[in-house]
Amino acid sequence: MRVFKDEDGGLRNFGHSRANVTPSVNENPKSTKRLHPVHFGDYQNEIYLAGLHGVLPALPVDAAGLESRALQALPQSLVSYVQGGCGDELTQRRNVEAFAHWGMIPRMLVDTTSRDLRIELFGMTLPSPIFMSPVGVAGLCAQDGHGDLAAARAAAATGVPLAVSTLMNDSMETAAGLLGEAPGFFQLYTPRHKELARSLVCRAEAAGYKVLVVTLDTWLTGWRPRDLNASNFPQLRGHVLVNYFSDPVFRSLLAKPPEQDPAAAVRKWAELFGMALTWADLPWLRSLTKLPLVLKGICHPDDARRAIDAGVDGIYCSNHGGRQANSGIAAIDMLPSVVAASGDAPVLFDSGVRTGTDVIKALAMGARAVGIGRPYLYGLALAGAAGVEHVVRSILAEADLLMAVNGYPTIAQLRAAGAVRVAS
Ligand SMILES: Cc1cc2nc3c(=O)[nH]c(=O)nc-3n(C[C@H](O)[C@H](O)[C@H](O)COP(=O)(O)O)c2cc1C
Repeated sequence: MRVFKDEDGGLRNFGHSRANVTPSVNENPKSTKRLHPVHFGDYQNEIYLAGLHGVLPALPVDAAGLESRALQALPQSLVSYVQGGCGDELTQRRNVEAFAHWGMIPRMLVDTTSRDLRIELFGMTLPSPIFMSPVGVAGLCAQDGHGDLAAARAAAATGVPLAVSTLMNDSMETAAGLLGEAPGFFQLYTPRHKELARSLVCRAEAAGYKVLVVTLDTWLTGWRPRDLNASNFPQLRGHVLVNYFSDPVFRSLLAKPPEQDPAAAVRKWAELFGMALTWADLPWLRSLTKLPLVLKGICHPDDARRAIDAGVDGIYCSNHGGRQANSGIAAIDMLPSVVAASGDAPVLFDSGVRTGTDVIKALAMGARAVGIGRPYLYGLALAGAAGVEHVVRSILAEADLLMAVNGYPTIAQLRAAGAVRVAS
């Protein structure tokens, strides 16, 4: 249930709709009266008002509660793959914990009755500053095995962009068809076969994806003890390879189509999976597309600067949620220097973001857009598209309410204020 309030104080109920997660001032199309601004934080009113009728939220609104429920719902192999990480998982723990040593100083007597969380990214105006990070097993996380499609539906419902991985359980084209007005980003794991790489990128462009994200830190898989102890690697069991198996170039490299000889197709995939890119490959990468090109996995300011000088459009500061290198520094602690080195180029950020407060801190520290990873998978596991929508709305509600209470009506003001390093 949505409650919109007229200027004269009258309450109106609207159906649950995309409008309830699209910020800024809304106009009632049937009325000339201006409505009060609709805010992401209004989600809490929905929850409290539903409670008056004895209806509690179907899923927890907090990250820890959500994770523990989802881990009970997921099969053990996915728990290990999704929750686990590299080495002793120090980096992924630090990613989350490091947000605690950054804080915001509240400002008072500022009018924050109206907040604006929109951002500009590559010429697009996005309704909120978050996006769903690319996740290769998103498809498997939904109970029906179509998590990529559920995530796309949630993107359409919320306006929050979805970055699809190269590793999908449904094709990038099918997911693109469900995104509605929400932009899709295509994340490329660059294969060792250049024509295959080109084909994947061309398909993404043709399907309407708006940004090409190239992940640099995963040309091979990091040392993941949980998965190793269970000999658990979904791709080798033929999962999430639909974008390859449906690709004309990939198919042309096989003696028999994947439908006839799936084991050989999986072997070919493993043979071609990851090209170890170097700076010398950047011009080639750049030549593949006219889409904005973003490099994911950049954590050092020198790499950020060099990438921008080489014609990259955006930097994606991330340590892959601690799944690749267990190098021990939290991603959020590396963000400020990457932002400083990136000049006007937008910096996308993820790794360790669990709450709306984390989103606000990352924005204050200069991220243009903030990626949600594992939490959306937990929503997928519990309730498909509705679960993802709930996670996204909860995170945005908390972010919006923090801005309201702390005296930051716009992201520009938030960023100007910055975050403060708290002594631990
Ligand atoms: C299960 C899982 C699969 C992932 N698959 C991909 C992928 O296919 N491509 C990619 O660029 N990043 C992938 N990532 C990394 C995410 O994009 C993101 O960087 C990470 O989830 C951020 O860490 P967090 O979820 O702990 O916040 C994956 C992450 C997880 C948890």
